[in-house]
Amino acid sequence: MNLKGRHLIDPGDFSLLELESIFRLAEKIIENKDEYSQICKEKILGTLFYEPSTRTRLSFEAAMLRMGGKVLGFSDANVSSAAKGENIADTIRVLSAYADVVVIRHPKEGAPRLASKYSNIPVINGGDGGHQHPTQTLTDLLTIKKLKGSISGNTVGFCGDLKFGRTVHSLIKTLSRYPDNKFILVSPEELRLPDHLRHMLKNIAQVEIIETEDLETVIGSLDILYMTRIQKERFFNEADYVRLKDSYILTRNKLSEAKEDMLVMHPLPRVNEISYDVDEDDRAAYFKQAEFGVYARMALIAAQLGVGNNA
Ligand code: CP
Repeated sequence: MNLKGRHLIDPGDFSLLELESIFRLAEKIIENKDEYSQICKEKILGTLFYEPSTRTRLSFEAAMLRMGGKVLGFSDANVSSAAKGENIADTIRVLSAYADVVVIRHPKEGAPRLASKYSNIPVINGGDGGHQHPTQTLTDLLTIKKLKGSISGNTVGFCGDLKFGRTVHSLIKTLSRYPDNKFILVSPEELRLPDHLRHMLKNIAQVEIIETEDLETVIGSLDILYMTRIQKERFFNEADYVRLKDSYILTRNKLSEAKEDMLVMHPLPRVNEISYDVDEDDRAAYFKQAEFGVYARMALIAAQLGVGNNA
């Protein structure tokens, strides 16, 4: 597989074989971290975060530092020249001279794609508005592979904000490319998966989907439950957010109906949609998931830079 120099804007930018090569490399890194500790020596990762982040930015930084590379960037657009009106095309042209690979998070859908058109270095979409979050998908798939054994043949429940949830959009699109996955979509009516994605799932990927507003009636049939936060920042109207924010709260009690080996995943941050008593349950996978995010991103950067022992 040759991913050297390639952008990752949408999870569909990589074939399943290319995704598999990233997971293989991530697993090799997990097994033998020392072997990969200097492969990015002399390389620089740029991090342009126009929207808040903990995991994505810091796991990318950790990934580069753990491979011996360096990091530069900003975590707040207000301290960059964006505050003076500079557009992303000019910013990325300049970054192309300062870094070897760049990750961009932006509140506007399509901003990383636009940046990639003006970039001489690989651009990674670190999340664009309510659109896509492909490196969260790499993280999620690596987690499923490591903890469930297979990315295929699972019944996956997505619960919460399926309308604006970019992690859901990227993951469901990608899981639908693997055989024999089924999806149960649990959301309030107002936060249903967008029409274009439901159309793609039903008519193009031809996968089975069930929609419901009631988590408790379906939890027993799930292999994976992917919980999501109701995202305050995506609502135009505070009253709607307040009305919907507590639609789903997973408790240890509710887990009693779930399979013994069901995974509870969440891209994090959580607010109150998973109660803290669930953290002690063996099925809670979300902190492990955040840890796998570092290895998935190490493998991605290494592949895009063409360094290390690419799988
Ligand atoms: N999962 C995720 O994208 O988290 P952050 O917003 O903290 O980066």
